[in-house]
Amino acid sequence: MSGLRFAIFASGRGSNAEALMQAFATDLIPAEVGLVVCNQPEAQVLQKAQARGVPTVLVPSKGLAREAHEAQLLEELHKARIDHLLLAGYMRILSPYFLKRFNGSILNIHPSLLPDFPGLEGAERQWAAGVKVAGATVHFVDAGVDTGQILLQGSLIVRGDEGPDGLAKRVLHEVEHVVYPRAVRLFIDRLNRYRKEAP
Ligand code: GRF
Repeated sequence: MSGLRFAIFASGRGSNAEALMQAFATDLIPAEVGLVVCNQPEAQVLQKAQARGVPTVLVPSKGLAREAHEAQLLEELHKARIDHLLLAGYMRILSPYFLKRFNGSILNIHPSLLPDFPGLEGAERQWAAGVKVAGATVHFVDAGVDTGQILLQGSLIVRGDEGPDGLAKRVLHEVEHVVYPRAVRLFIDRLNRYRKEAP
């Protein structure tokens, strides 16, 4: 174990969160998920985490100014002694202030081969554009929309009969759920190497 503690941020279905929690439960990710953070009361991710015994916190964002919402988030993350954040379908922009507090320690998964197709519905837009190779990207989060440094990408060959929803499903299951846990492992390995090399 690296002793590192991660929080997963999600707003909905939570299939990436599930794939991550599964990997955290094996040797693939030698660290702990200390918290699943959600801003939507109805989100399925909450049950998924609870079923695994992973602590959850619901911090509803509706009607709250960004600053007030983030102040609550920061308090919860502090209480749970979280070092790094994994965004997995978290549908809220984080402020530059918040990003600074976790400088270089926030990853996100996006359903396209960035820098192509940033923003919403990346997978469906890959279909619409007729790409032959589709994929997903794990990247560091910066103040832009899906513009942070790329950590790892995965791809698949488009068959051509999937349709937009079918391609989005393939990208999710065949690429995202595989590449995100591996990216987290890579991130931890890099941190460990850096710790060893630091004087
Ligand atoms: C995924 O496609 C992810 O790439 C994007 O939001 C979606 C979340 O899906 N950022 P899920 O909640 O992980 O199933």
